[in-house]
Amino acid sequence: MPAATGAVVDARNPVKMKIENASKVYHTRSGGVHALDNVSIDVREGEFLCLLGPSGCGKSTLLWSMAGLHGLTDGTIRLGDEPITNPHPEIAMIFQEANLLPWRNLERNIQLPFEIKRQAPDRARIEKLLRRVGLEGFENKYPRELSGGMQQRASIVRSLAVDPSVLLMDEPFGALDAFTRDEMNLLIQEIWMETGKTIIFITHSIAEAVFLADRIVVMSARPGRIANIIDVDLPRPRPVKLQTSPDFLERVEAIKAMIDHRPA
Ligand SMILES: Nc1ncnc2c1ncn2[C@@H]1O[C@H](COP(=O)(O)OP(=O)(O)O)[C@@H](O)[C@H]1O
Ligand SMILES: [Mg+2]
Repeated sequence: MPAATGAVVDARNPVKMKIENASKVYHTRSGGVHALDNVSIDVREGEFLCLLGPSGCGKSTLLWSMAGLHGLTDGTIRLGDEPITNPHPEIAMIFQEANLLPWRNLERNIQLPFEIKRQAPDRARIEKLLRRVGLEGFENKYPRELSGGMQQRASIVRSLAVDPSVLLMDEPFGALDAFTRDEMNLLIQEIWMETGKTIIFITHSIAEAVFLADRIVVMSARPGRIANIIDVDLPRPRPVKLQTSPDFLERVEAIKAMIDHRPA
């Protein structure tokens, strides 16, 4: 587990996921779309890594490949020594939309991954997680009865219930209002510190990346390449008010300038 006051994850931690020379070309009727070009990243065990970049730079393409949801044109992605070409039980994905089934209540939505695996749901773990994210007592509610933030909390519980070691998050709080987003950022930081999961988190918000990340991988516009990798050595846990501190704002400005001044 990362130390409460620790900063950047120890670079001596073992590599959890290895992305090597990842390239992706989508073949469409109007020609090829070069979405990702020769991206290599070593994600360390227990690391909170943010992928930051403009819309269309290939962030989701990379994350979907890491989830084994689609293949690369070139390159490899490994979890430990295992090449990832299909969905893997150790790797969970959380999307911008909570993707809860509207005809199932919260409890039955959270049990869905167990049903797919033909396993009995881990009720004790689910109960603990529901309590952890403040959804205790909402088990019988349907998604339409819950706010966007609550739905996203439920989708976090659904992902963590099967105890994956890697959590891939694709702009998970992008559709939420600013207050809810702050709450969710605090919650995910806490859960990460408590569980030591490896998290790869996509955002196009520089401030969100600086708030959450141990390391930020800045991607350039299409074809998506790595423009920069930045360590964020701010102590944890990071409080919301950190976002108005001069040190924090300086870091945001520095990344913004780096992106603005990048050669076209
Ligand atoms: N299934 C697809 N078929 C064709 N092009 C796609 C497909 N998915 C994504 N793209 C294109 O690949 C590029 C990268 O997309 P994406 O990975 O979704 O970027 P991001 O998540 O950074 O916004 C974009 O130009 C997008 O239009
Ligand atoms: Mg995307």
